[in-house]
Amino acid sequence: MRKNIVAGNWKMNTTLQEGVALAKEINEALKTTETHCDVIIATPFTHLVSVVNSVEASRIGVGAENCADKAEGAFTGEVSARMVASTGAKYVILGHSERRAYYHETADILKEKVTLALENGLTPIFCVGEVLAEREAEQHFDVVAAQVKDSLFNLTAEDFAKIIIAYEPVWAIGTGKTATADQAQEIHAFIRKTIAEKYGNEIADNTSILYGGSCKPSNAAELFAKPDVDGGLIGGAALKASDFMGIITAF
Ligand code: PGA
Repeated sequence: MRKNIVAGNWKMNTTLQEGVALAKEINEALKTTETHCDVIIATPFTHLVSVVNSVEASRIGVGAENCADKAEGAFTGEVSARMVASTGAKYVILGHSERRAYYHETADILKEKVTLALENGLTPIFCVGEVLAEREAEQHFDVVAAQVKDSLFNLTAEDFAKIIIAYEPVWAIGTGKTATADQAQEIHAFIRKTIAEKYGNEIADNTSILYGGSCKPSNAAELFAKPDVDGGLIGGAALKASDFMGIITAF
């Protein structure tokens, strides 16, 4: 059966020292907490090695927030999937709406990134989600289906089975405005159906689909109670150990 997962996305927040302290605080808190989900923290590249070395791998999986769409070479400033994997990180967030919007990451670029991540043994946490105008025009199902198909449906079934999906409506990210649990369930079920049509029911049933967008301790339990919501990708609330733990224990 698919895993329940709570993943933190630190975005461009925390210095190295602050990040290590936060990771240690979460690791300590997890020692004395009964949990019913996997815990992941995705950090800036600069923090990866130190965070990997500051937490117990059995309690926390560490991930990057991005990787390059090229394997290696003359791409100044880029960080490859292989480099990320060499830090001990196991995950990489790809296709976050901030990357799509501000850094012009297209479906084709993301396809390359997903392939390179998988080749290097990283588990992609692949983000999809519509903007407000698309939701208001009732295009959200089409938009999300296209995002899933255009960057992932080239994968073999074996590789697709390694992907974690995060549905993050752009209008809910960092806005304090959360999708209702029913809205999340509706589109998560639709994503799972889209996957089933391509890869079959078994793979669709085993794919973890996380919700992201202003998820916090006060709304996590209601969201996670929905049958197709398998956890959360957490931005703002992942930057405070007590809030992040409050979401983890919502399972
Ligand atoms: P948020 O961000 O929880 O701050 O809304 C979620 C995300 O962008 O992953």
